[in-house]
Formats: sequence, structure tokens, C-alpha cells
Amino acid sequence: MRELNLYAKVEHLLGIEEATEALYDLYHSELEEYKVTTLLDVGCGRGGFMERMISDGIVCKGVDLSQVMVDECQAKGLDAVCMDAKEVTGSYDAIVSIFDVLNFMDEKTLVAFLNAMAERLNDNGVFIADINTLYGFSEVAEGSMSRDSEEESLIVDATFENDKLDTVFTLFEKQEDCRYVKYQETIIQYFHKIKIFQKLEKLRLVEKQTFSLYDREDKTLLIFKKR
Ligand SMILES: C[S@@+](CC[C@H](N)C(=O)[O-])C[C@H]1O[C@@H](n2cnc3c(N)ncnc32)[C@H](O)[C@@H]1O
Repeated sequence: MRELNLYAKVEHLLGIEEATEALYDLYHSELEEYKVTTLLDVGCGRGGFMERMISDGIVCKGVDLSQVMVDECQAKGLDAVCMDAKEVTGSYDAIVSIFDVLNFMDEKTLVAFLNAMAERLNDNGVFIADINTLYGFSEVAEGSMSRDSEEESLIVDATFENDKLDTVFTLFEKQEDCRYVKYQETIIQYFHKIKIFQKLEKLRLVEKQTFSLYDREDKTLLIFKKR
């Protein structure tokens, strides 16, 4: 997954730390309503949410398709594996997919993924995820930005068309000999209509909250139970 590894390499330049913490606060407070002793974090990234939950005494496992992300989790001593979530074994009181993870899947992959997650939930388990709204894609995510430092220079160029956001990440990274190496990858994110989540075979959408992460109603939180 070269594009996800490039994302992992540039994430610290994107200025999303505050938004990430705000999402962790939201998930943490939602999970307080449930009896959770085991948690699976799908698309766990660098493992920040798992660290928070472990400090509450919860046993956490993370999976991510980026080896770079998983290496960082493992270096912190977290239980994380680089694999497709559909291959995860075990069962959990809670499963989370935080910060756009579902938008990385096309509709067919998404539906198969969600039904696979139902199989991994304990009977009273809860699955929580967030997605970008149409407003979030067209008014917040679309556009260009650049970030420069002495060591690296990043250009991000995102276009939203036909319910798909194509984000081109171009990174120039300074080498020891002062030359720059160029990396370029495109990440595709898919807008999903709520009705997809309302007709799942194995999960029941019990709550949806649209909220503002960066601007107005740019995000929706989805909470599911097993059918
Ligand atoms: C925006 S990051 C969020 C990371 C983390 N949840 C956080 O809040 O910091 C999205 C993550 O999802 C991972 N990802 C994307 N598609 C995935 C999939 N199908 N299965 C597992 N991880 C995936 C990416 O590698 C990336 O680490």
C-alpha cells in the first residue's frame, strides 16, 4: 500500500493533531456508554486512540494497511498488525474506525467490511466510525495546500468529482547529499450516502450525529450494533 505509506510519512505535516484529539474525545465519550473491556481499532494509524483506551484498562488491538503506521505502533509496544481488517480474528466489545477510514473504501468493499466487523463484535458490542459528509468533501477537503521545512516539502492537491476525492500527495525529501527525492501518490476517498449504512445485513445503525470537525457539518459519526 504505497499510497498509505506515503500518507503515513506526511501526516505530521497536515496539521490535523487538534482535529484528531477532538475525534478521540468524541469516541471516548461515546464508548463510556458501553461496557468495553476489549477494543479493535481498524485503521489504527499511529495508535493514539489505543494508547488512550489502554490507559483506561481496556485491552486493545489495532490493524492498519500501512506498514509504516504499524511499525510505529509496535515501537510503542502496542498490539498492532498490518493486515486487511477482514482477516482479523477474535471478538471485541467495541470496534472503531477513526478519522475517515470508511471513506478509503469503495461501496462494495465497505459493505463487505462492515458485515465482516459484525462477525467480530460480541453480542452487545458496538461499532463506531466517522465519515465525511458531502459538505466535508466539497467545501473542506477539496483544494490545495503546501508545507515546507528545511528537510521536506509537501504539496497536497485534492479534487472532488463524481462522489470521489482524489488527493495527490507530492513530497520532496532532502537526502544527506542535499539532493531531494520526490515521492508522489494519489489517495482516493469515497463519499458514502447514509442509506448504505441503513440497509446492512449484519449491522444495525442505531445513531448518527452530524457534527463540525473543521467547519460546519463536515462529519457524521455512525454507531452500529449487531443485528
Ligand atoms: C486518516 S488516517 C486515521 C488514523 C487513525 N485512526 C487516527 O485517528 O489517527 C486513516 C488510516 O486508515 C488506514 N486505512 C485505510 N484503509 C484501510 C483499510 N482498508 N484497512 C485498514 N486500515 C486502513 C490508513 O493506513 C490510515 O492509517
